[in-house]
Amino acid sequence: MAKIRVIINGREVLAPLGATVLEAASQAGIDIPTLCHHRALQPIGACRICVVEVKGQRNLQAACAFPISEGMEIETESPRVVAARKLILDMLFSERNHYCPFCETSGDCELQNLGYRYGIDHWVYPTYTQPFPVDATRKYFIMDQNRCVLCQRCARACGDLVANHTLGLRQRGAESMIHADANVPFGESTCISCGTCLQVCPTGALIDRRSSFMGRGDQTERVRSVCNRCSVGCGTRIVTRAGNVLRIEGDWDCAVSGGLLCKAGRFDPLYEERRRITQPLIRRKGKLEPAGWGDALKTVARQLEDAEAKEIALLVSGDATNEALYLAGRIFLKELKAKNVGLLSGAAPDWIGKKPGTFGELVGSGMILLVGADPAKDQPVASFRIKRLVDKGMRLIVVDDNDNGLAPYAEVTLGLADIAKAVEMADDAENVTVFFGTGLTEKAAKTLKKLGKKARFLALEPGVNTRGALAFGIHNGFKPQAAKVLYAMMGEQDMSGDVLERIGKSTFVVAQASYASPLTERADVVLPSAVWCEREGTLINMEGVVLKAERAVEPEGEALADWEILSQLADRLGKKLGASFKEISARAAKELK
Ligand code: SF4
Ligand code: SF4
Ligand code: SF4
Ligand code: FES
Repeated sequence: MAKIRVIINGREVLAPLGATVLEAASQAGIDIPTLCHHRALQPIGACRICVVEVKGQRNLQAACAFPISEGMEIETESPRVVAARKLILDMLFSERNHYCPFCETSGDCELQNLGYRYGIDHWVYPTYTQPFPVDATRKYFIMDQNRCVLCQRCARACGDLVANHTLGLRQRGAESMIHADANVPFGESTCISCGTCLQVCPTGALIDRRSSFMGRGDQTERVRSVCNRCSVGCGTRIVTRAGNVLRIEGDWDCAVSGGLLCKAGRFDPLYEERRRITQPLIRRKGKLEPAGWGDALKTVARQLEDAEAKEIALLVSGDATNEALYLAGRIFLKELKAKNVGLLSGAAPDWIGKKPGTFGELVGSGMILLVGADPAKDQPVASFRIKRLVDKGMRLIVVDDNDNGLAPYAEVTLGLADIAKAVEMADDAENVTVFFGTGLTEKAAKTLKKLGKKARFLALEPGVNTRGALAFGIHNGFKPQAAKVLYAMMGEQDMSGDVLERIGKSTFVVAQASYASPLTERADVVLPSAVWCEREGTLINMEGVVLKAERAVEPEGEALADWEILSQLADRLGKKLGASFKEISARAAKELK
């Protein structure tokens, strides 16, 4: 992009044509304070804390919204600028209750930081004594209007990023307040608890119930990871203090999700109520008893060695890492020659056989056809992206036999029996993207194939790494009744009751699992495996993007990462498949090429 020359604080700076003053300054390492601005949101120039002096302009200009032009001369900290910022801060501190020592966000608050930066040490104007409402009707976070600075980041995030449009601004002037829908309690509103508003709020107005008062930014650590709840694979930052996970934040730098998370990714893992399995267990005289790793793996290895290939079954969770899947594939498919393999939560039909489309390409689509999938329920961040495009005029056709969360946004909703009609409509449109899921029937898939040449396809898979599992040859054809020795690599998933019922009474069951479930109760050996924040590894999302998850905390008790368990099992079976994570990760990556 063409660069132009501007002078900021007497310094010559080159910045891209079309950049704002804020962007040009930031690229040159010059810090201009902001409040209503957020990197993921369009600027609205509302708070005016970022004002700067621009030579030739009578009024101070909001740096976040003012575009640069060739030769522009800008002062970012002149006495006039500083006086204007102080005035804004004096008013903001007086308008509501900003007694910082009693605020959860004290130490991490953007308003408080600005107060220190500009020496705001007393109230210039009478403080506002009327208490504003506090709304604690939502499960995960609280809205305290007393700390709100009306920057509208929350409402813009809810509308422009999540396309949920729950939040708005009511009343006028100092009485203005953020409200939900037609001013109903937040807990009774259309809010879907994605927590995006919570993450963008610059003050203590939105408070996370679980991690409040548990550690400021400088007392915590952030580790980059990946949400393992669906195939979008949203980037996360796991926030920890002293080995404890405090909260999960969206990673603004993640190209796949752009900082967004849904309730399942942000809150659910922290509210887990199932009992953890923290040590290996072996069934002795009908009862599961604690055992050492050595005994447990020896028992499993003996059962596998004594079984014929056709008697061995492997079932894996779609959220396992590539490293674990590589080892599972090597041990069970290549060495033990097992054929009875499957994915715990199934997979979308594998009939496209070409490179998947990407969310980035969606922007250029004229129409989205959604078939046999409900991303609003199962892959929420994908649904946010679809809804955003519908807001901008994208046509959406939903084909599903069940109630579909995106039906209210669709131009037409059809049953799978009418797939031909949807294909006809798509055939007439330019640039079509087809999302399909596990609900796509074989018959409907045949009709959809007619769009094979013109459309791009994205499979909305159930597990974050279903694509990885398929790439390692773990397809979805598990027959419970045929298994004599079943190795179930469950991860954090449970097995549905009907599959469990079809497992033979004499089948030897090994459950490699993080949580107690009816399967672990039924198992002969239970191997405790690490959960989302305790493991590292790579995953392949629905777009085919390889994502990297880092370990944030140590595994609980004696639990081990899936790859470690399988690596030790391989040793017991006399197959040397690599001992370190680095070595196995490199082998897995090579096999994927
Ligand atoms: S949690 Fe999500 S849906 Fe609910 S108000 Fe905030 S941004 Fe909107
Ligand atoms: S709740 Fe937070 S993000 Fe929303 S307007 Fe108030 S201060 Fe801004
Ligand atoms: S959309 Fe999927 S990957 Fe993203 S946060 Fe939600 S569950 Fe996790
Ligand atoms: S940050 Fe620029 S006007 Fe608010």
